Amino acid sequence: MSAGFRAIQWNRHKQVYDLLLVVGILLYLTGFSLLAPRLMPSDHPVTPEILRTRAFGSCGLTMLTLILAIGPLARLDRRFLPLLYNRRHFGVATCLVGLVHAWSAIDWYHGAGRLSALVSVLWSNGNYGSLVGFPFEALGLAALAILVVMAVTSHDFWLAFLTPPVWKAIHMAVYAAFGLLILHVALGVMQSERSPVIPVLLGAAVAVLGALHAVAGRRERMRDERPAGADAVGWLRVGMIDDLLANLPDGRARIVVPPDGERIAVFRNGATLSAIVNVCAHQNGPLGEGRIIDGCVTCPWHGFQFRPEDGCAPAPFTDKIATYRLKRDGETVLVDPRPLPPGTRVEPLALGALHG
Ligand code: HEM
Ligand code: FES
Repeated sequence: MSAGFRAIQWNRHKQVYDLLLVVGILLYLTGFSLLAPRLMPSDHPVTPEILRTRAFGSCGLTMLTLILAIGPLARLDRRFLPLLYNRRHFGVATCLVGLVHAWSAIDWYHGAGRLSALVSVLWSNGNYGSLVGFPFEALGLAALAILVVMAVTSHDFWLAFLTPPVWKAIHMAVYAAFGLLILHVALGVMQSERSPVIPVLLGAAVAVLGALHAVAGRRERMRDERPAGADAVGWLRVGMIDDLLANLPDGRARIVVPPDGERIAVFRNGATLSAIVNVCAHQNGPLGEGRIIDGCVTCPWHGFQFRPEDGCAPAPFTDKIATYRLKRDGETVLVDPRPLPPGTRVEPLALGALHG
């Protein structure tokens, strides 16, 4: 159901998801506190405060790694899609865990001095020109600032206020936060502790995330590389009618990639075709990976719905997305890559009649 730009509804699935999230965090913190002293023996005394700082820090980075893995995993295997539904709660929880870690570190390492905590974090080590001695805490602070901005703007109010493209651009900074945290650990605790566990885990996180993104991106490009090509007036080829009838299941979409602009999702609705933009008005979800339910294209991420023929959400909701014109040239279906204003009705192209 489309809900306009209102808060995601609280339901039983989300309550279970959040409960599992809290249980997972508690299990991680307990497991880390018990196992880390054995798996990563330290040359220095590790006080309970340091252990607490490390437990929350590593928990936050693990959570961030999982968040970044959910997107490509859901693209590669639809069974991971349920994890996407509540990714925002996961993100806010990551930010809270990061805040506890930062408080714990500042309290232990910067709490006793006369400088304010912020000045102390930024200037107690002024080696900004050095690589290995770089003030790694400043990197953690920068990452935390990004996580806080993302958590604060995660509500749908900000999505509507900032507009989806700006909101998405802000939230892509999560990759910068991840990079900053990898450096935070590589230049911080990895220099002071000689345990091989830290570089191995850090390298594994980067390698697994990189591989997942590369494979999911490659899969998407391969799927997008449908018979392309344009006619004399720039309309793009969707496919041959026989091919569409045989290989495009009812209620599903074929994606067309214009040379510039957003991808186009051409949906088969029974014996007709309709084209809409592939980007959901809610949080830019890939509409073309959804399907038609009750006559509406249903976004695979959070279930917002849009009618394929006019891109409008069903009443009482008011969201709209762009539509595109379709036409037939002999046995070929073509789409005009110039988007029509959101909510513009386009007569669906009758596949059956064309074929007859
Ligand atoms: C103001 C912001 C931050 C400060 C001042 C800070 C400070 C520190 C300090 C002092 C350590 C070394 C702890 C020790 O070994 O004694 C550390 C380690 C670490 N921090 Fe941060 N940090 C900040 C933000 C973050 C954030 C936001 C995350 C992740 C969400 C994070 C993740 C980590 C990780 C993974 C470690 C290594 C833990 C381990 O040894 O297993 N830090 N941080
Ligand atoms: S419903 Fe949330 S992105 Fe589409």
